[in-house]
Amino acid sequence: MDQALRIQPTYAPSSHDASAIHEHGLDEDSLADRVELPLNLGLNEGTFQPKACLGVLEQFGHRTSMRRYTSADNDALREAISRIDGVPPEYVFLHNGSGPILKQVIPDLIKRSIKSSPARVLRHLINKSGYPIVAPKFTYGKVPGKAAAIGLTVHTLPCGPESGFRVDPADIEAYVSKRDALVYIANPNNPTGKVMISIEELEPLIAKYPKSIFWVDEAYVHYIDPDQHDSFAPLVARYPNLFVMRTFSFAYGLAGARVGYLLTQPDEVLAQASKLTNYRVGMLSAQLAVAALEDPDHLDFLRQECKEQRAVYYEALARYPSVEAFDSDTNFILCRFTDGRTGSWLADELDKRGIHIKTLGSHCGHTFEPYFRITLGLEHENRFLIAQLDELIGTGPHQA
Ligand SMILES: Cc1ncc(COP(=O)(O)O)c(C=O)c1O
Repeated sequence: MDQALRIQPTYAPSSHDASAIHEHGLDEDSLADRVELPLNLGLNEGTFQPKACLGVLEQFGHRTSMRRYTSADNDALREAISRIDGVPPEYVFLHNGSGPILKQVIPDLIKRSIKSSPARVLRHLINKSGYPIVAPKFTYGKVPGKAAAIGLTVHTLPCGPESGFRVDPADIEAYVSKRDALVYIANPNNPTGKVMISIEELEPLIAKYPKSIFWVDEAYVHYIDPDQHDSFAPLVARYPNLFVMRTFSFAYGLAGARVGYLLTQPDEVLAQASKLTNYRVGMLSAQLAVAALEDPDHLDFLRQECKEQRAVYYEALARYPSVEAFDSDTNFILCRFTDGRTGSWLADELDKRGIHIKTLGSHCGHTFEPYFRITLGLEHENRFLIAQLDELIGTGPHQA
């Protein structure tokens, strides 16, 4: 999970705390009444679950509905994923969210890759560069951050506002042509909300460098119309060095159900599953996930909803002369201050009003002080946050 949790807010009005609302200039009939505080718009949690999930929840509404174990291998869910993603079910490794998959599988792959070659072992012993991680400068910080924290070598790829936050395949090739590595690409990327690289750009490298691992994290891919971007999922069966990961936490609005999966070769699925107990994805979560995948209308609805809510934010953010907001195709928007203020300053101010947003912190020697990221919430939540932003930053450049 994208851990943006900050200190507990000092301002958390509830129904018995109307005076706090007045103190902040919001009358009781305003949007604040309908917004539940604290409001977390920092973790990218999706908003709506597919309507088909409601039918599943109804079926579970009696006292004996959960007494049975789920099927050991969650066959029905793996088959549903197989139908949607175009890979056979035995290529699907399921876990309780994609965060646990990153945590389990990436270190394991790196360890095995190092152990498989004496030269890599030697480099690992000399300077921890036996099998480096390659990741863009702007990315889901947990992967490079954790690797760096345990001393592994992390090579960062240039990726910034000047290039539309895209990664240049030549930069990847310049590295993996000299040394086998694990290339981590979140596509579309968090925190930028944009696709970083296309199949046409990356597939030739996957084919040319079979000893390097290419890990494509598609946590947010469902937000993009498939007419505009091709998923890497169907390529998994062709390339043993390609790993594609997805989750139900975002576009399917099921972060609380904790289901994510990795698409990889069947022997890798078995190797990873053997480290865990069966029955780990419970029956309710599995059935919700199947219903979500099979709902014919959800993703179109969600893409339209996100488009509208992004427009609400962009209109507001354009009013603030000291903020630059970047184009996004997902359920979050990356912004930066241009007047010297920091994302942490804003996050702290919003925390006082009961709202969490995400700052990017620092990883691998990079700091991202002016930046902050807002997750799209429900419409009234977004309008409530905008009302706070109007007060805090709607007044033009900061006077030091
Ligand atoms: C790019 C990316 N991958 C994976 C995850 C993990 O999500 P989950 O464990 O809910 O599937 C996150 C969470 O923020 C993310 O942003």
